[in-house]
Amino acid sequence: MFYPLVKQALFQLDPERAHEFTFQQLRRITGTPFMGLVRQSVPVKTVNCMGITFKNPLGLAAGLDKDGECIDALGAMGFGFIEVGTVTPRPQPGNDKPRLFRLVAAEGLINRMGFNNKGVDYLVENVKKSHYDGVLGINIGKNKATPVEQGKDDYLYCMERIYPYAGYIAINISSPNTPGLRTLQFGEALDSLLLAIKNKQAELNQYHHKYVPVAVKIAPDLTDEELCQVADSLVRHNIDGVIATNTTTGRELVQGLEHCNQAGGLSGRPLQSRSTEVIRRLSLELNGKLPIIGVGGIDSLVAAREKIAAGASLIQIYSGFIFHGPQLIKDILTHI
Ligand SMILES: Cc1cc2nc3c(=O)[nH]c(=O)nc-3n(C[C@H](O)[C@H](O)[C@H](O)COP(=O)(O)O)c2cc1C
Repeated sequence: MFYPLVKQALFQLDPERAHEFTFQQLRRITGTPFMGLVRQSVPVKTVNCMGITFKNPLGLAAGLDKDGECIDALGAMGFGFIEVGTVTPRPQPGNDKPRLFRLVAAEGLINRMGFNNKGVDYLVENVKKSHYDGVLGINIGKNKATPVEQGKDDYLYCMERIYPYAGYIAINISSPNTPGLRTLQFGEALDSLLLAIKNKQAELNQYHHKYVPVAVKIAPDLTDEELCQVADSLVRHNIDGVIATNTTTGRELVQGLEHCNQAGGLSGRPLQSRSTEVIRRLSLELNGKLPIIGVGGIDSLVAAREKIAAGASLIQIYSGFIFHGPQLIKDILTHI
């Protein structure tokens, strides 16, 4: 594969510029014979999860294709599922740049993008145009300008818009880059959000004659007690799955590295063991009552296997994909 060369060139650029450039090229080749440049065949390894059949257990995590602009090109690389978003009701620019940093020696990233996205309607138009034959998850959040007490309305609004087009819906209440968002993971705020989401799901199920499962994405920075409370709440509300984990605000494993003190969420290899630990504890607590989608620092076949051994039914990658390219998909799927 030619990714090592591509990476060498891309890593000369500012990280966000590299992302934009790559997406520009992927959009350009979509639907042309040049798609052959990114297409790779991977073994079919079917997994049933949340009532859906996945052609393989490896997905792309949320945040790379926030607006659903490159679904077909990313799908051609072999992902069994792609989670687009986080998308919000209205478009928003996100935080000021620079807001994405590489910690090369640790194979980590720190980001404080802040849900930059073109809004849910633009995403839906892109989803309608795509021809991806895997499962498409759509990850939703709230606009920064929406007070957290009214955040629920933003999730419900997005649900209505995306419902007919989503394979599953991911509820992001764990980004560290939207002020107050993570408070939705606790107590009364969580219960009332989950209740509203389940009611909306039931209403949309009746209307569209289609049940779309809902998974909740959580942070790796919860204490054991908080994790138990979240698990209990997810079970009580009959949530269909849990995605563990988002990025961490912790910096223990990257001390002394360039950019380590940038504000935002840390992902990649420095997150690997913490996210596996969260999955293990969640798995004990949930006891099979709902499936876990494991994400955080998967950068190899071994790391993928660790997530599954800890209790994940499906896995996702983001940072590992940046550092290792499409070959990582093939390496994992060939042997898993
Ligand atoms: C630049 C960047 C942007 C992200 N944006 C989102 C997002 O919009 N929504 C979300 O749920 N997670 C987002 N994430 C978190 C990832 O989906 C994933 O949970 C996290 O990075 C851990 O996986 P990894 O170590 O494989 O990167 C983002 C991560 C990165 C690095």
